[in-house]
Amino acid sequence: MQTTELLALAETYGCPLYVYDAHKIEHQYQRLTNAFSKVESLRINYAMKALSNISILKLFRKMGSGLDTVSIQEVQLGLHAGFTPDKIIFTPNGVSFEELEQAAALGVQINIDNLSVLEHFGTKHPKTPVCIRINPHVMAGGNENISVGHIDSKFGISIYQVPHILRIVENTGMTINGIHMHTGSDILDIEVFLYAAEILFDTAKQFNNLEFLDFGSGFKVPYKKGDIETNIEELGKKLTKRFLAFEKEYGKPLTLAFEPGKFLVSEAGYFLAKVNVVKQTTSTVFAGIDTGFNHLIRPMFYGSSHTIENISNPKGKERFYTVVGYICETDTFANNRRIAEINEGDVLCFKNAGAYCFSMSSNYNSRFKPAEVLWKDGQGHLIRERETFEDLLQNQILLDI
Ligand SMILES: Cc1ncc(COP(=O)(O)O)c(C=O)c1O
Repeated sequence: MQTTELLALAETYGCPLYVYDAHKIEHQYQRLTNAFSKVESLRINYAMKALSNISILKLFRKMGSGLDTVSIQEVQLGLHAGFTPDKIIFTPNGVSFEELEQAAALGVQINIDNLSVLEHFGTKHPKTPVCIRINPHVMAGGNENISVGHIDSKFGISIYQVPHILRIVENTGMTINGIHMHTGSDILDIEVFLYAAEILFDTAKQFNNLEFLDFGSGFKVPYKKGDIETNIEELGKKLTKRFLAFEKEYGKPLTLAFEPGKFLVSEAGYFLAKVNVVKQTTSTVFAGIDTGFNHLIRPMFYGSSHTIENISNPKGKERFYTVVGYICETDTFANNRRIAEINEGDVLCFKNAGAYCFSMSSNYNSRFKPAEVLWKDGQGHLIRERETFEDLLQNQILLDI
C-alpha cells in the first residue's frame, strides 16, 4: 500500500488503527497454491488465530481456503463466516473433552494430540474419523515460544507412541483419516521442514485409512530488507516430489494440507499509531505513541522486530529513536531505530502487523481495542469499529455496595 493511502486512512478512522491489504492476502494465497500446483488435491486451512476478523475469514472462504481452528469459538466464528464444517479442522491442545465433543457434533474434522483423549474419544465416538497430531521431535521454529515440535513440547503425540495409537485404534474400531504435524513458527531452513516431513511419511505408512497429510505451517516471512524467508517455491518443488512418491507408495490418493497463518496475513497488515510525545533523555530520544503492548504485544512477547516508518514525514532526515508505548510498564517497540525525523502528531506505521497482532490485543490499562480497516479495490472498508466506553463495561455487573 502507498504511504499516502495509509495516512489518509489514519486521518479518516483515527489512530491506533489496523489496516489489512486484501490484495496482498490474495497474492500470498496464490503463491502458496501455485507452489504446490502439481499436487492434485491441495488444501490450505488458514490458521485463523493469526487474524480472525469475520471479513478476513470471508475473504479466505471466497478464495477456496479451509480453516484451521483451535477453540470452539473459532469453529463457531468459522461457521458464522460461511465455512462448511468439512472445510474446518479443529486442532486444540489441552481443551476439555466436552469442547472436543461440541466441535465433533458440529461436523468439523477433529485433530487429537493426546493418547488418553484419543482412547476416550474413540471409545465414545468410534464412527467419527479423527486426525492425529504427531510430535516429530524436531527442533524448529524462530524462538522457544514458537517451537512446538520438540521433545519437551506439550503438543502432539510422540512418534515413539505410534504403537499405542495403533492399539487404541484396534481396540476402539475408530478410523484415523489424517496425520498432522506443526513443528513451529518462523522455520528458517526448509531442510528441517523436509526432514520432519519424512517423519510424518514414516508414521503415515502405518495407518491404512488416511485421506490427508497435514504438514502444519511455520513458514517464515521477511520483516525487513534482507531478512531470511521460507522459500515457498523451492519447498513446493521438493515436497511435491516427495509427496507424489509417497502417494504412489501408499497406493491411494491423498490430500496435502497446510495451515499457515503468518505467511498469508503478516505482510498484509499495517499498524498505524500517532506520536503523542517526543522525549529527549540523557541517553536516547523516545517517541511515545498512542498505543502499547495492549494492542501489539509481539515485540515484547516474541522479540519480533517490526519495521517502523514515519509516514507523516517519509522523506525526513533519519535520526535514532526508541519507540515506546503509553502504558504503565516498559513497552518498547523498537530500540535505537533509524526513523525519518519524528515530530509530535506524526503517524508511525508498523509493518508485518497482520498476524498475531490485533488477535492478541487486550484492554490492558482499560484502553479500547483499535479499529480495523480492510483495503480492497483501492478503498478502505471499516471492518471493526474502535471500542467505546460501553465495551469496557459490557458484561460487568455493578454490585450495589
Ligand atoms: C497447530 C498450528 N498450526 C498452524 C499455526 C500457524 O502458524 P504460522 O502462523 O507460523 O503459519 C500455528 C501457530 O501457532 C499452530 O499452532
